[in-house]
Amino acid sequence: MKIKQFRLHNLGRFKLLEAPLAPTQQTTSNVTVLVGNNGAGKTSILRALATSLSWFVARLRSEKGNGSPIPEEVIFHGASSAAIDIAVFDERGQSANPEANEEDFFYQWTLTKTRKGNKGEHTSHLNDASRLADYYRSALSNNDKTSLPLIAFYPVERVVLDIPLKIKERHTFLQLDGYDNSLNQGVDFRRFFEWFREREDTENESGISQDMLNKLLEMLGSEKNSVWEKLLALKASSRDRQLTAVRTAIANFMPGFSNLRVRRKPRLHMSIDKDGETFNVLQLSQGEKSLMALVGDIARRLAMMNPSLNNPLQGDGVVLIDEVDMHLHPSWQRSIIERLTNTFPNCQFVLTTHSPLVISDCKDVLVYSLNSGELTLVPSQYGQDANSVLLNVMDTHIRNAEIAKKLNDLLDHIQDRRLSEARELLTELGRELPANHIELAKAKLLLRKKELRGEKD
Ligand SMILES: Nc1ncnc2c1ncn2[C@@H]1O[C@H](COP(=O)(O)OP(=O)(O)OP(=O)(O)O)[C@@H](O)[C@H]1O
Ligand SMILES: [Mg+2]
Repeated sequence: MKIKQFRLHNLGRFKLLEAPLAPTQQTTSNVTVLVGNNGAGKTSILRALATSLSWFVARLRSEKGNGSPIPEEVIFHGASSAAIDIAVFDERGQSANPEANEEDFFYQWTLTKTRKGNKGEHTSHLNDASRLADYYRSALSNNDKTSLPLIAFYPVERVVLDIPLKIKERHTFLQLDGYDNSLNQGVDFRRFFEWFREREDTENESGISQDMLNKLLEMLGSEKNSVWEKLLALKASSRDRQLTAVRTAIANFMPGFSNLRVRRKPRLHMSIDKDGETFNVLQLSQGEKSLMALVGDIARRLAMMNPSLNNPLQGDGVVLIDEVDMHLHPSWQRSIIERLTNTFPNCQFVLTTHSPLVISDCKDVLVYSLNSGELTLVPSQYGQDANSVLLNVMDTHIRNAEIAKKLNDLLDHIQDRRLSEARELLTELGRELPANHIELAKAKLLLRKKELRGEKD
């Protein structure tokens, strides 16, 4: 399932906004990135998409289900009603129809909201959301291992590692439970924890736990090698596929991290190994927690929703992430899109960011810049340095304006052979800037050249 296109009318700060999402004819990847100033409307777009998709999810859960309404306060000031249109492409809805052609794979629905006491100019049409949901519901009735499309929205306030203090009684997790809280709070760590423990228990019951393996290893003595290898093979074959998916996703994203597991002593907690040392996940840094929770949540939902796939990370769906660079070190910002697409190759991503690094490291992403309620396509920034992206796409000075002016004056003085003024300014800047400042070093060289040439003449 992919969103092909969306249209917002009188929503948030947008009078009318329409755009296709990747993949398009020009962009083959599944990634669209929105950039723009604070208040440009990035979050509003993601929320609108999530709101619209919530109707499909609600109708998948039950025939007459209702998704989230458009809140009245997001109706454009002065307008009486707002509308969100989306066009969704989904081949599976027609899988039983051999005559189906491309047109049949499109589903389009409109969600509207009218101010109280007003007469709106829009009406909702949600038939296609129901039609598509109907297909998945019947498929699920026929085969309880049917895959469902993941739909998740990760808002900025997504990182709360809420760990239950008590072990509740067991409950089963069905594919549909993969949608629980997926559109309102994003990371549902409590559910992640419960699900992980549940699966780990089953895994340990059917196989050999790591602790048991370690004990055996101590007891084995000289016969260690051959028996040990057999035990390891046995353990690998008894591993839970869904847990393996989550562990693999986390390992892909966070090199050095492994062996995420639930521990019951001294009290219930989740631990992970980082470069050979074991940590309670609550001890991890904000950035590490944030990434682990995000990746773990996407992977867990995919695993739940694709019980029959050999590798559940291959499941499809739509993932919306607000401020994807949040808490990430620049080198992680650079690689986040590549990691997302490598780890979850069939998910469509719509991301927002304030970081030039996020969009300068991928060849094939669709980037839109939002400005004054309008959306413009940004040419590929692949291979650009961060300064150029800041300057060209994010409309931001690359250095402090006062220093920039002084550096310019300095170059002008050198160029026009006002060498004593140049020396004076150079000394002044030398006091203010770090010793290895590259522009200053260049100016120094230029000045030296001019001085030498002056001596020759
Ligand atoms: N009903 C409305 N009518 C007109 N403008 C609105 C309405 N509701 C919100 N806005 C405007 O939309 C903007 C909110 O946009 P949004 O939160 O999507 O921005 P953003 O691009 O995500 O910004 P940030 O980078 O700060 O998160 C606000 O600046 C607000 O002025
Ligand atoms: Mg925002």
